[in-house]
Amino acid sequence: MEATTKSLIFFHFLILLLLLSPSFNLVLASSKKLPSVNTKSHHYHRSLRRLDALKASIASPLPPPSSPPPEGGSDPRIYLVTSYGADPTGQVDSTEALLAAMADAVNGSNYKGYMMMQGITNVGGAQINLQGGNYLISRPLRLPVTGVGNLQIHGGTIRASDTFPSDGYLIDLSPTNDKTSSSSPYNYEYITFKDLLLDSNFKGGGISVINSLRIGIDNCYITHFTTNGILVQSGHETYIRNTFIGQHITAGGDKGEREFSGTGITLQGNDNAVTDVVIFSGAIGIMVTGQANIISGVHCYNKASGFGGTGIYLRLPSLTQTRIVNSYMDYTSIVAEDPFQLHISSTFFLGDANIVLKSIKGVVSGINIVDNIFSGSNSGVEIVHLDQSKGGFENVEQVFVDRNVAKGMNMKSTIGRVSLQGNGTSSWVVDFNEVLLFPNLIKHVQYSLSIAAGDGFPGHVLRNVSDNRVVIETSEAVTGNLYVEVDQGR
Ligand SMILES: *[C@@H]1O[C@H](CO)[C@@H](O)[C@H](O)[C@H]1NC(C)=O
Ligand SMILES: *[C@@H]1O[C@H](CO)[C@@H](O)[C@H](O)[C@H]1NC(C)=O
Ligand SMILES: *[C@@H]1O[C@H](CO)[C@@H](O)[C@H](O)[C@H]1NC(C)=O
Repeated sequence: MEATTKSLIFFHFLILLLLLSPSFNLVLASSKKLPSVNTKSHHYHRSLRRLDALKASIASPLPPPSSPPPEGGSDPRIYLVTSYGADPTGQVDSTEALLAAMADAVNGSNYKGYMMMQGITNVGGAQINLQGGNYLISRPLRLPVTGVGNLQIHGGTIRASDTFPSDGYLIDLSPTNDKTSSSSPYNYEYITFKDLLLDSNFKGGGISVINSLRIGIDNCYITHFTTNGILVQSGHETYIRNTFIGQHITAGGDKGEREFSGTGITLQGNDNAVTDVVIFSGAIGIMVTGQANIISGVHCYNKASGFGGTGIYLRLPSLTQTRIVNSYMDYTSIVAEDPFQLHISSTFFLGDANIVLKSIKGVVSGINIVDNIFSGSNSGVEIVHLDQSKGGFENVEQVFVDRNVAKGMNMKSTIGRVSLQGNGTSSWVVDFNEVLLFPNLIKHVQYSLSIAAGDGFPGHVLRNVSDNRVVIETSEAVTGNLYVEVDQGR
């Protein structure tokens, strides 16, 4: 206290000196365009008045460090959580403060009549600003009303306390219990979570998006979850962008990797996108059980498949409709159950990571696995592997696995091409089992027999394609080349 008073007095003294100094007056005169009759006493009196005003302003209590929460009317709708008593140091529980800021941000009485989807009130782009703080919470953050849209929560860290429910999500877009509060078929629309670090403290998950529309999760970092980093359930178009997700904070090759659990992202809805996302630890990177989702630019190194992990798991037997492009599967594989309409391309598979097609009811149809790069350790891992432990694939239709490149892994394809030299050969047998994906399936064969001029015109015929072995016979023993192409896909 004493020190503050002293320094205040010193400060006043300094200002007095400044005001009385001729150079200061000169500055004032030029900037304020004062009348030219400038006597010394004039200056002195004016300076004294200014000094009084200054003193008064210094003596009056300082304004609070942050502006008060905006009220209705014309105030900008930026809700600073510290204004509600949230503790940005993360020491004191801030659950009530954050909930209060959220309640104000979506208070419907401020936004009458401006709708988005039917029954969704547009809150105008209201922002809940975490002000770069680190907040401890003991209950999931849920909006107090259902049926609002155009809201942002951004700019800080939210961490679960030790008493946080183990099945909860830090941010939970569930409907409120009051089912009458909205007439919308969806809970929320266009809510954006941006620049957030969400630390679930090994209690539950990060963000859950339930039956909502056009939700953005952008530049977030989600960690220490035990269930899901992000859960999307029904609804449409949750876009997860530029985000980092991992159960444990590691940078690969972690000693505890075998024990990683939890799922980075679970998509139980349709039409979502996961783009430019890294999943750096967790048992499963992305679990998809909804249709028409796109995964692009994703790097999964969550838990090596060799330790029981999966990069991307497509568990939608016969309704896959998933595109995985431009991604990087780093020691973790893609598993698809009874894939139906699946596209995987321009993806890099490292460390024996591969694609496993798992038969449940024997359906595999409408598959493009093309233009990918595979790199392995010469352990005999197939780039595309069929898991037929629950029964064989029976209905193979429109399956195109081709134009991939592999090093240190076994190439698999639905197209086989071989050229064979014969010398006094009349029965030519070409075995395609090494490269063909499906056993005993050749739908189409094309071959050419090349014989040097002067060696006559022998007759030749295709005899057999069983067990992926093509048998061609010639009417006499010939010396020449045979070119064969087979196709399983069409
Ligand atoms: C909404 O704001 C109004 C003032 O604008 C206030 O009277 C009312 O209590 C608030 N409602 C809720 C649910 O916070
Ligand atoms: C075919 O085999 C004979 C002997 O068996 C050999 O003399 C000849 O060079 C061979 N021709 C080719 C094209 O390999
Ligand atoms: C084709 O070869 C298989 C053995 O690979 C044999 O069982 C089958 O009878 C052959 N089919 C014909 C038409 O010769």
